[in-house]
Amino acid sequence: MVLKILLIVLCVCVLSQSQKDGIVITGPGLTPQSIVMPARYFFINFTSINEQSYTPTLAKDLVVDIEGRSSSSKHCRVWVNKLDRKDGTFIVRYKLYETCLHLSIHVYYKKKDVSGSPFTFKGPIYPDQCDCPKTDFKQWFADYGCNQEYDQIQQDLKPFKDLDMKQQVKEIIKKYHHPESTSFCHYIIKDNELYRNCYGKHVGFNMFSDNILLSLTRKVKLPNIELIINLGDWPLVHKHDDVLPIFSWCGNGDYFDIVMPTYDLTESTLENMGRVTLDTLSVQGGAELAWSKREPRAVWRGRDSRAERLKLIDIAKANPDLFNASLTNFFFFRDKEQQYGPKQPHISFFKFFDYKYQINIDGTVAAYRMPYLLAGGGMVLKQDSPYYEHFYSQLTAWEHYVPIARDLSDLVDRVKWARDNDDKAQQIAINAKNYANQYLLPQHVICYHAALFWEWSKRIKSEVEVEEGMTHVPQPSFECNCDSIERKIRDDL
Ligand SMILES: *[C@@H]1O[C@H](CO)[C@@H](O)[C@H](O)[C@H]1NC(C)=O
Ligand SMILES: *[C@@H]1O[C@H](CO)[C@@H](O)[C@H](O)[C@H]1NC(C)=O
Repeated sequence: MVLKILLIVLCVCVLSQSQKDGIVITGPGLTPQSIVMPARYFFINFTSINEQSYTPTLAKDLVVDIEGRSSSSKHCRVWVNKLDRKDGTFIVRYKLYETCLHLSIHVYYKKKDVSGSPFTFKGPIYPDQCDCPKTDFKQWFADYGCNQEYDQIQQDLKPFKDLDMKQQVKEIIKKYHHPESTSFCHYIIKDNELYRNCYGKHVGFNMFSDNILLSLTRKVKLPNIELIINLGDWPLVHKHDDVLPIFSWCGNGDYFDIVMPTYDLTESTLENMGRVTLDTLSVQGGAELAWSKREPRAVWRGRDSRAERLKLIDIAKANPDLFNASLTNFFFFRDKEQQYGPKQPHISFFKFFDYKYQINIDGTVAAYRMPYLLAGGGMVLKQDSPYYEHFYSQLTAWEHYVPIARDLSDLVDRVKWARDNDDKAQQIAINAKNYANQYLLPQHVICYHAALFWEWSKRIKSEVEVEEGMTHVPQPSFECNCDSIERKIRDDL
């Protein structure tokens, strides 16, 4: 009882303190014991500051210092990266390269700890490479903050129950194994170990599906599952055909494929602060200009993978005051380079946000840049399309983006509308960014996969058994003995 009152008093104090200095710090990176990610992150919000009164000195006066001890040397290796959203809020990312003991996160403003800081952690904080799965999936799922509704998963899995996967896999191979045109892998997770057999001529993309499955099984013990992952962009199971379970990166209203976050979004999660520079966090710090300073024109770059992309070039040439659009490569329509070229060099994705409006036109399937456009803080003009990614069903036209007809016939009018309704256009941009921060950050991408595979496991009735000749896919070797470190800490206490 006394403890309870004490806690309440403590909480009230903390709350009023953070209101006092007008700085609020939140995010999964403040729970590094439970939320293991390649790059952990949290947000710093100067609640008293809005975009208009934002000054760059704020960024200079804000210092984040993260340090801890390694088991051998004095300091553990941590890399910290601060992203300035230029609206009075910041994203801080940090990457651990080894297990850190006594980790502390200091947030200083004008050389003083802000309220709440430092955040300190006694137990070991593991880097993402550690193979230290938690044994209770549901507990892990809750602790990881995976508390969202997954309507798309429910919808995708509705046709499937009580599956004999041995039979399903056999049928899928018989129907869809065309080495020249399709590539897919049959995966098995048994006792949290990964096995696969791949089919097709171009199976290099299995590195993406391997990566997410290995990343998950390092974090939590997954139920035994068996599934087929399509390594191509096109969905495979047409609604005219027999219902068969294939997991794909892109969906289409006429297909049964079960949709996963795209390999691009997933890789940007798993290689955050690593091999990948564009992700839904970095793009928020990459834009240089506030909304009011951006050009009121629509920007686009890309390759010639769909006829409408050529049409866009015609429209842009006829309306240079409204557009800046160019093709960066000719492959599908090489004979048209004379007319629609010359091809222009790539520009940095961050440069897209020198403009107020960004155009999203399908490539061969959905354009996988959509998450970054939404997060980037521009107003997205999205082509109407049967193709979708795992989150599109949550988006609403005129709230999160401005819709454009598939044949682009209303594109010019839409850009004119945005110029005439700047407040509304800006609000759509803000909504999009808020949406991305709520659903498309690395934590959410990991959660989506976990939720999907957990739900999937319930649909399988047959015994999951590793078949002879399957390739075992091991975890990358990484020195990290979870058990002994935990024991060592317990001994220390
Ligand atoms: C920062 O905090 C203020 C006040 O709570 C809130 O209105 C605003 O939306 C927050 N900004 C961001 C980007 O989270
Ligand atoms: C279009 O954008 C590119 C890259 O930012 C820039 O170099 C070029 O001058 C722009 N063209 C027009 C017509 O604004």
